Amino acid sequence: MRTPIVAGNWKMHTVLEEAVALARGLRGPLSALRGVECVLCPPFISIAAVAAEMAGTPIRVGAQNCYVADQGAYTGEVSPRMLAALCQYVIVGHSERRQHFGEDDSLVNKKVHAALRNGLVPIVCVGENLAQNEAGQTGEVVARQVRGALADVPADAALVIAYEPVWAIGTGRPATGADANRVAALVREVLADLYGRDRADAARIQYGGSVNAKNCAEFFGQPEIDGALVGGASLKADEFVAIAGAAARPVVS
Ligand code: PGA
Repeated sequence: MRTPIVAGNWKMHTVLEEAVALARGLRGPLSALRGVECVLCPPFISIAAVAAEMAGTPIRVGAQNCYVADQGAYTGEVSPRMLAALCQYVIVGHSERRQHFGEDDSLVNKKVHAALRNGLVPIVCVGENLAQNEAGQTGEVVARQVRGALADVPADAALVIAYEPVWAIGTGRPATGADANRVAALVREVLADLYGRDRADAARIQYGGSVNAKNCAEFFGQPEIDGALVGGASLKADEFVAIAGAAARPVVS
């Protein structure tokens, strides 16, 4: 059985002091949850402080992006090697990076390799935009993104896929649970084709896009969906705790 994973993508919100306050508010209630893995992804400059707050708890910390090289003359970039000293996860290929910073599947693939090489678990984001959705191209686009992101990635690599339809992100207009489940199932078929059925069945696939405490159960009730990547609602401690709690599955001891 797959353990659901609920990650909060704080995006470019919170100054250091606010990030620490949010982390402190989440630490107790998230630590008390069983049967769900929680990941906080603050802005780069707050990762160290948030990680310090989460020390000794089961709560994981992640970055929102990384560069493809481990070190070097790349002014302004943050390497996966630096991140690996502080956190466990890194979001790769988020649609906002693809949209505003020109990231394509080939760059996303390099970032996936860079993360894995440094022992970070990439949360690989895929999803169609509105025009592609309306043109009925969702399956084709998502399959291409998954294959592109995972080119030459070995079967035993630890990674998470987040299906995030671009039109659902930050719009208050989520996909339906059934539609998200259908795309998650398709992602799993691509993984099965690449790595075999067992690996595909073990892979965790999140849904992301306007997930909140009210609508999350619709996604967590779907058999192919293993948690969520949460943006706006992850900035409110109570709401994020409610979402993570709703994702928790009974622990088999
Ligand atoms: P949202 O963002 O929950 O604010 O829609 C999700 C994401 O971008 O990961």
